[in-house]
Amino acid sequence: MAPVDPHSFSDPTQGTISHIEFRLEPDLAARRVRFQALYTLDRPVRGSLFLDARGLDIAAVEAEGAPAQWSIDREDPILGQRLHLRELQDVRRFSIDLMTSPDAAALQWLDPAQTAGGIHPFLYSQCQSCSARTLFPCQDTPGVRFTYEAELLTPDPLVAVMAAARVGQSRQGANTIYRFHMPQPIPSYLFAFAIGNLVFQSIGPRTGVYAEPEIVNQAAWEFAENEDKLRAAEGLFGPYLWDRYDLLIMPPAFPYGGMENPRLTFLNSAYVQGDRSGTWLVAHELAHAWTGNLVTNATWNDFWLNEGPTTYAESRITEVVEGVETAELGTAGRARRLLRAIERLGADSPMTCLKLSLAGKDPEESYSDVPYNKGLLFFRALEQAAGRPRFDAFLRDYIAALRFRSINSEQFLAFLEERLPDAARATDARRWIYEPGLVEGAADVPSSLRDEVFAVVEEYRHGHLPTAERVAGWTHVQQGVFLGLLLPSIPASDCAYFESLFGLRDTRDGDLFSRFCELAFRSSYRDVLPAYEAFFATVGRYAFHEPVFRALAGEAWSRPLARPLLERWRHRHHALTVAAIERILTQAGL
Ligand code: BES
Ligand code: ZN
Repeated sequence: MAPVDPHSFSDPTQGTISHIEFRLEPDLAARRVRFQALYTLDRPVRGSLFLDARGLDIAAVEAEGAPAQWSIDREDPILGQRLHLRELQDVRRFSIDLMTSPDAAALQWLDPAQTAGGIHPFLYSQCQSCSARTLFPCQDTPGVRFTYEAELLTPDPLVAVMAAARVGQSRQGANTIYRFHMPQPIPSYLFAFAIGNLVFQSIGPRTGVYAEPEIVNQAAWEFAENEDKLRAAEGLFGPYLWDRYDLLIMPPAFPYGGMENPRLTFLNSAYVQGDRSGTWLVAHELAHAWTGNLVTNATWNDFWLNEGPTTYAESRITEVVEGVETAELGTAGRARRLLRAIERLGADSPMTCLKLSLAGKDPEESYSDVPYNKGLLFFRALEQAAGRPRFDAFLRDYIAALRFRSINSEQFLAFLEERLPDAARATDARRWIYEPGLVEGAADVPSSLRDEVFAVVEEYRHGHLPTAERVAGWTHVQQGVFLGLLLPSIPASDCAYFESLFGLRDTRDGDLFSRFCELAFRSSYRDVLPAYEAFFATVGRYAFHEPVFRALAGEAWSRPLARPLLERWRHRHHALTVAAIERILTQAGL
């Protein structure tokens, strides 16, 4: 039985949705999508069925072909609405016909100006964590999985894609109907589609990219190594069970770097940087195909079970394709970021536990580095305690035994204690999962590439600005680690020096630029403000902007500038990005 999910009204003991046949008809002018959904249940349901919904305009509900009794009988600011289907008589199939609301949280409607081509609009969905219910009623919990079929009516000349297999297309007037089939069962948060001026380019036997024609060649070059990453990941974690691994290159307004939609990772075009330095993100989203998409967190309280093992898996893939030193530099950098996050949240804050208790809270509000990087260090500690060969075998068993299942932290711990009792004991696994803060020494990650950076920071602290020769050959990650080590602030004139030393003003690396802006604003280096505004005006990944806005809101000179900056570009951003920045400004009293 699926554990109770505090973010869903559904009750899987009533029966679960096992398959859905969708028809989607987007109205780009009205910013609504008509959803017709025919649901199949895993068993005949008698009596009530509770589904999650939010803001849907429901026209009809039928059960076994006859009108059904239904009502919206509960509402909650976090959970949305409960759609209650009543007096069902052994129902296996029911259908719902509805329109989404223009402000459905799962949808972002982009103007042509926000795309690479500038001519056609772009529409996409982002359901994680709790937004699938703004598209169609469902048991919107990662504990329930279903397969689906879908038809997407798409106005010419736009093209539809889904995180599913494309099985055909036909013409209907000035539209194309794209047909999809999703044979692998997914939780609702992995339902995804997009519509835009898209073309496909193949990379390898199982890999390719969908992108706007203006950037597809660039993207295919940038991600040419995806097939190698896929093979490396299979070598580590077992067979890839999702058939294809394609990328959809998203307009830069996308509020994340990447989203692991099955078979079709959505990847922010800000990571197409012209030199493959942003492709580490693919290792992360690809790793989710095992950790997250095969073995899924049962509730958002167990979010670390998606992101922690994935961040660990990402470092293992990086190790195979780029070498151990690059992987260790990444892990060392993440350990440091974790320490900073724990410092900010407070070492005894419950937000620094792996297991969260988010009942009554929006999961997005508690998003932090902790599930990612504390989870990474936990898995690393387990690897060290068990020894790599045993830990690798454990990981493969874990995935094979629990694939297409959803588990909570307690089930993970039980599995670990059964299979690797010595490592569970040696690491004090319970403490990792349930206690706040970090075990002493856990963030000490040896890294020779990081040590090179430490040496230069030391010299700088003793009054020596590094010369170009001294930092020649540094990767973007080393440059970023360097800037991070200079926080909270340095003289503004030194900011100008590092800006030209690393070519930061026109870097295409958003992680690096964001890191620099944080340091620059903390250091009252104002000259970079126009460049940051141009970046903020187009790139939506909120992880880029959170630390920068925290800096702007935290310094006397820039405090008055922070809110006007958000207001100038609010309309360009996803509601999630706006909400994340709003939280920072409100907390700062702005
Ligand atoms: N699944 C996450 C994105 C996400 C998290 C969406 C929570 C909604 C709620 C994705 O795999 C992810 O972690 N993306 C990161 C990149 C990662 C390398 C740190 C991102 O986009 O910042
Ligand atoms: Zn992730």
